[in-house]
Amino acid sequence: MLKLNNVTAAYTPGAQVLREVSLTLAPQEISAVVGANGAGKTTMLRAILGQMPYLSGEIRLNGTDLSGLPAHSIVSRGIRAVPEGRGTFPSLSVDENLDLGGFSLAGGRREANKKREFARFPILEERRNQRAGMLSGGEQQMLAIARAMMADPALLLLDEPSQGLAPIIVDGLFGLFEQLREEGVTILLVEQDVGRALEVSDCGFVLEKGQITRTDSGQALLNDPSIRESFLGIA
Ligand SMILES: Nc1ncnc2c1ncn2[C@@H]1O[C@H](COP(=O)(O)OP(=O)(O)OP(=O)(O)O)[C@@H](O)[C@H]1O
Ligand SMILES: [Mg+2]
Repeated sequence: MLKLNNVTAAYTPGAQVLREVSLTLAPQEISAVVGANGAGKTTMLRAILGQMPYLSGEIRLNGTDLSGLPAHSIVSRGIRAVPEGRGTFPSLSVDENLDLGGFSLAGGRREANKKREFARFPILEERRNQRAGMLSGGEQQMLAIARAMMADPALLLLDEPSQGLAPIIVDGLFGLFEQLREEGVTILLVEQDVGRALEVSDCGFVLEKGQITRTDSGQALLNDPSIRESFLGIA
């Protein structure tokens, strides 16, 4: 579905943040990228989104090379992201945030998708006229996901979605990712909560200092003693 081939990227010359990163996302699966702070996870998502030029390598979506395409053109091909820190517009209402998520759709489809997202997140319908900035952290995360889903993305990139949320909210969130997979969405999940992320993931990648050092099924990584020690604090 999405394929990265030897992607190398740097913010400043000589300081490579991604080094020959290669990975393949299978359609309608959840894939997790795990790695320490500063490993390059967010940078990798930026590269996929066309927000981070890469020095070499290529990124292909269903065979089409995305290299050099502007970010808006990548979004229009069905890739949507929920950025770290959520990225909703706090001074706009819930409704307006959702409309922005579906801005490229015809009015009828936009309304139908909004109805679908309100069914998924009833609390957002209750709060539809409130400013997004007034929502709780969990509600804002729901809004960010609903906004991304407004465009019917084929691929959803999620950067640290559980950050700052209460455990019970996080449970619901991971259940939601499984539901979205059932609906046919391909998900790339970057998560600090490595245990939970690998639990729901079909496939996992370990990113260390800009390099992919392990690729395996989520379950295999979850059961791997070295992963358990490095990321789960279990020897
Ligand atoms: N805009 C930027 N300009 C220069 N360097 C940056 C920039 N953003 C990130 N970096 C550096 O690139 C490296 C990778 O950062 P990145 O944000 O991709 O890591 P991460 O794996 O997402 O970390 P975290 O788990 O803390 O979110 C880090 O060394 C970081 O300091
Ligand atoms: Mg990050």
